[in-house]
Amino acid sequence: MRSKAKSVKQSAPDDLLLRRVLDGQIPRHVAVIMDGNGRWAQARNRPRVEGHRAGVQAVRETVETGAELKLEYLTLYAFSRENWSRPRVEVWTLMNLLKEYLRREMQNMVDNDIRLQILGRWREFDPSVVKAIERGLIATADCKGMTLNIALNYSGRSEIVDACRKIVADWASGQPVDIDEQTLDQCLYTSGQAPPDLMIRTSGEKRLSNFLLWQLAYAELWFTDKLWPEFGRNDFLQAVLDYQSRARRFGNVEASSSSESSPTELDSASGPSSDFGAR
Ligand code: FPP
Repeated sequence: MRSKAKSVKQSAPDDLLLRRVLDGQIPRHVAVIMDGNGRWAQARNRPRVEGHRAGVQAVRETVETGAELKLEYLTLYAFSRENWSRPRVEVWTLMNLLKEYLRREMQNMVDNDIRLQILGRWREFDPSVVKAIERGLIATADCKGMTLNIALNYSGRSEIVDACRKIVADWASGQPVDIDEQTLDQCLYTSGQAPPDLMIRTSGEKRLSNFLLWQLAYAELWFTDKLWPEFGRNDFLQAVLDYQSRARRFGNVEASSSSESSPTELDSASGPSSDFGAR
């Protein structure tokens, strides 16, 4: 990421694209499945881990562009619970890239007022990774600009299970609990955050891969054949431009403004409620 002090020099076509994007509704929350690192490396006859190394530059550019657009939230899917089944050297490299990224980018994050949040069961990581994450969380805790969520040891299904466990624990400790959409939403790793308006996936794959299963209910989806290390600022801006052309209906017949949040059952004026109401 650029430091605040450095001037931002863009090429003319990029500037034009940025101006067009800034003229439209900026999504509050963009979520990204960074896919294709392995294929990028394999296409160059290099080991898969080289693809992950190259992917870090795309992470930097994406975070920088998100901050430039003044997103409220940017979520990057960096390591799923399923990724543990990869070769040990690949998992080890990913952990080291993460530690290095946090170490190198922390000051830039603070300078750019970016708050770090981690989604997932990250406390199960090696203590050295947990420590690096904790340092990042503490260093950026007072930042008020964009929140950067990094999904680590993440699974959308596990997130919902964890939320249910929390609700049951609250109930068992005697707290009043209503089992409804708002309660569950508040018990997710993304508690308090707006849901993603736009989900981007690279590498030509068109699936959710257990990513933000609850939160993506009304997100607009955007796919590109580019592999993650090839994804840059221009692609991000194109994705947002395309998002701005979508008519978001949230189950209604008329389109809403593209940045309106999806309704929860509590927002609806009428209609059946799925609120079961526990004690
Ligand atoms: C998916 O590509 C990518 C990952 C599982 C890891 C993403 C990690 C990074 C971009 C770098 C580290 C992250 C941070 C936040 C510093 P893949 O390996 O599944 O690609 P393939 O489908 O081509 O095999």
